[in-house]
Amino acid sequence: MSSTPAAGLQNLDSTLREDRIFPPPAEFSAHAHIKSIEEYETLYKQSIEDPETFWAGAAKELHWFKQWDKVLEWDLPWAKWFVGGQFNISYNCVDRHALGARANKTAILWEGEPGEVRRLTYAELHTEVQRFANALKVMGIHKGDRVAVYMGMTPELAIALLACARIGAVHSVIFGGFAANAIADRVNDCSCVAIITQDTSYRRGTEIQLKRTVDEAMPACPTVKNVIVYKRTGSPVHMVTGRDWWWHDLVANAPTECPAEPLDSEHPLYVLYTSGSTGKPKGLLHTTGGYAVQTYLTSKYVFDLQENDVYWCTADIGWVTGHSYVVYGPLQNGATVLMYEGAPNFPDFSRFWKIIDDHKVTIFYTAPTAIRAFIKWGHQFIDNYKLDSLRLLGTVGEPINPEAWMWYREKIGHNRCPIVDTWWQTETGAMMITPIPGAIPTKPGSATRPFFGIQAEVVTRPDADGNFHEVPKGSGGLLVIRKPWPSMARTIYGDPERYKKTYWSDVPGCYFTGDGARQDADGCFWLMGRVDDVINVSGHRLGTMEVESALVAHPKVAEAAVVGRPDDLKGQAIAAFVTLESGNPPSDALKDELKKWVAKEIGALARPDDIRFTEALPKTRSGKIMRRLLRELATHGEIKGDTTTLEDFTVIAKLREAEEG
Ligand code: WTA
Repeated sequence: MSSTPAAGLQNLDSTLREDRIFPPPAEFSAHAHIKSIEEYETLYKQSIEDPETFWAGAAKELHWFKQWDKVLEWDLPWAKWFVGGQFNISYNCVDRHALGARANKTAILWEGEPGEVRRLTYAELHTEVQRFANALKVMGIHKGDRVAVYMGMTPELAIALLACARIGAVHSVIFGGFAANAIADRVNDCSCVAIITQDTSYRRGTEIQLKRTVDEAMPACPTVKNVIVYKRTGSPVHMVTGRDWWWHDLVANAPTECPAEPLDSEHPLYVLYTSGSTGKPKGLLHTTGGYAVQTYLTSKYVFDLQENDVYWCTADIGWVTGHSYVVYGPLQNGATVLMYEGAPNFPDFSRFWKIIDDHKVTIFYTAPTAIRAFIKWGHQFIDNYKLDSLRLLGTVGEPINPEAWMWYREKIGHNRCPIVDTWWQTETGAMMITPIPGAIPTKPGSATRPFFGIQAEVVTRPDADGNFHEVPKGSGGLLVIRKPWPSMARTIYGDPERYKKTYWSDVPGCYFTGDGARQDADGCFWLMGRVDDVINVSGHRLGTMEVESALVAHPKVAEAAVVGRPDDLKGQAIAAFVTLESGNPPSDALKDELKKWVAKEIGALARPDDIRFTEALPKTRSGKIMRRLLRELATHGEIKGDTTTLEDFTVIAKLREAEEG
């Protein structure tokens, strides 16, 4: 790791202190799974002293075809959980409820953007998942095969995941906002044999051309033999004979019974790509048993799920939040899960609040970036709605600033609903630091305490000999996790060395999260954002490298450096510094062209907010771009930090000229 983490930490201590504190409402605690801070602390202590007994207790609440022989096998950084056990997460999400008392309970309550509503009971979900699992088998898809999923938010997307898991196929969901190149990179990285997609999906009143984008990617995806297309909107699409198949034709001919395959606890469940500071996106691999247990237990305790809840997580299934907290966690709990297809501002800014009132949503889980947008749109879009069904609110994806937290509490939660600010990552698979709503007092802007079994610490950056220590309470440092946990990613698909190097090398013996944090006197954690070159735009992680690579791929661009700068709405915005190939004069038209280019190469979420042309980029003598200086310039319009390691001091003057020019 370069000097970046230390640079990032300089500012950590200056963060404003927040001393408001909100104990759990007595009414809420009375009916909660975990009812008091004492109960949390006792259970937490036990779970840390003997994590294996703790997690085994949780695992026993689920269905195993065969119980494990050993809870944990740990050979840093390689973990195996519930070794020797046989499990199927699809069985636990569906069959366990469909064959029991929840057969007629609504499993998925879906609202399309145009307004239509579909309800699938657990029994119906059972049928649909089995039929589609049989369709996958007919397509020649076997246990262990990788299957890409590129869909909009329809019940069929959840069905596709559950059907893959049922037969042991490994899904790799690609967010529907990604462009053809990004699809091809991901599909090729894990050699997917098939892609499941849909014709188009609705978003903000227009249609997203999912199938057409897959068609564009296909020439670059030699391993894909079949494309399965779910008909959502009925818009015309081009079907290639022998390669493309309609979902409805396949299931019409498929038998209705497909028993869930007993899978080894460590059988791969999915690959999900996320951004790192360098290189191509990493395909994090999650496996079966441990992932199931922790997504199950965190959903149960953190959302305090009760039988009559209507639970809504607004995340797209294209991200890890959708995997763990739209599909696997809540369904394993037998919850009623609301899924909404479209945008929060269609047909107007009140859509979410209308959905909450119409469907009597009780638990609402969203992202700080969405909350900031609601604040900006204004309370007139909220005031007409009762929101009295709500009993719990949650956030995830980036730090939430205390004022947004307070707004969320007052305007949406009417000062009645606890807020769970949940910290976790694609790599951790499930929540790690989070309030337990009936037990832990909350503070605006703090993710509060570690979940059971999770040993989180804030430490100094290791010196050259690898020595480091825990920082005193109140000081900033690197957030690490000491011990393995069940839902941790097992590796980076196809690149175990990179997994080891990225997560288990910077702080010897620990998992390094890439985040800075501090702990207050009460033991509450305050997350301070990334300390590496990852940008968090609207809660979505982007590596600076990815955007830089896309820019450099443009024929007029010589070199590019990308940094994040604070943005009121998105959390971070993307600022790009670009040097041009000679003979190409800088112009506003070229700025626009480059922004469009990046959107086309990666997807709209990676579109740079600012582009600055410069004659040169600041580099160290070893040739590393000094992003720290660019970050300062993009944020404050000037550079005050240490520039002694610069190779060429005139660069700064040139950058300033670019800034003014
Ligand atoms: C950030 C999303 C502060 C953090 C589940 C982390 C947060 C990255 C929070 C993971 C939170 C997520 N408070 N920061 N409650 N939740 N983050 O992989 O920087 O998309 O490392 O997983 O988001 O993003 P990812």
